[in-house]
Amino acid sequence: MLTRLDKLIAGSGRFSRSEAREAVRAGRVTVGGAVITRPEEKVDGGADVCVDGERLRTDALRYFMLNKPAGVLTAARDARQPTVLDLVPEELRGLSLQPVGRLDKDTTGLLLLTNDGAFAHRVMSPKSGIVKTYLARTEPDVDAGDVREFERGMELADGTRCLPAGLEGLGGGLCLVYVHEGKYHQVKRMLAARGKPVLELKRLAIGGLELDGELGSGKMRELLTDEIELIFAHSHRL
Ligand code: URA
Repeated sequence: MLTRLDKLIAGSGRFSRSEAREAVRAGRVTVGGAVITRPEEKVDGGADVCVDGERLRTDALRYFMLNKPAGVLTAARDARQPTVLDLVPEELRGLSLQPVGRLDKDTTGLLLLTNDGAFAHRVMSPKSGIVKTYLARTEPDVDAGDVREFERGMELADGTRCLPAGLEGLGGGLCLVYVHEGKYHQVKRMLAARGKPVLELKRLAIGGLELDGELGSGKMRELLTDEIELIFAHSHRL
């Protein structure tokens, strides 16, 4: 597909449309090795485009992981409260990234952001069978009876039926929870129903993709192709 060069450069998320135009006019942009100085020039979407000698990623669909901090809403922008979209760096704002599913305001850890709606739908659908792994701190500790109830598939007080889930006590108030679905406050409600209220909750993994331990709280980074595939590979059996 042919696209205007300035639009293609802005689509990389690293430059605004006007910055892209300036860079092209200044002779800083090459397409397939040749300098192009007309921003309106139509080029192939898959072309090798370099700005200042550096190759641009021009794929339209992009995938990121965010290490969500507590105190931030998983929502589009909010006038009163900070949201995960406020954590997206300026140069990536043009990509129209959206969160994949939701974490509660006080939940931390792995949240995916993408502009690929079909991918987001696939990750969230219980039909995909993707396991989400959470680390929870409860008071008191979970016990063998809780593990059995999780495995059986719990019914919550309001009649909500949950799919069978995994639970593993780690001692010291900590446990790992494995769920295939993302019902409202699901992990908290399941543990609360067993008399084990959640004091802290962190998502560690989605499928076989684990939160990067090097990624600081509130920081995001692009996923590698292999990591995208890992999401759909099952890391844990229930
Ligand atoms: N379950 C919850 O209760 N909260 C979250 O944020 C995610 C899963």
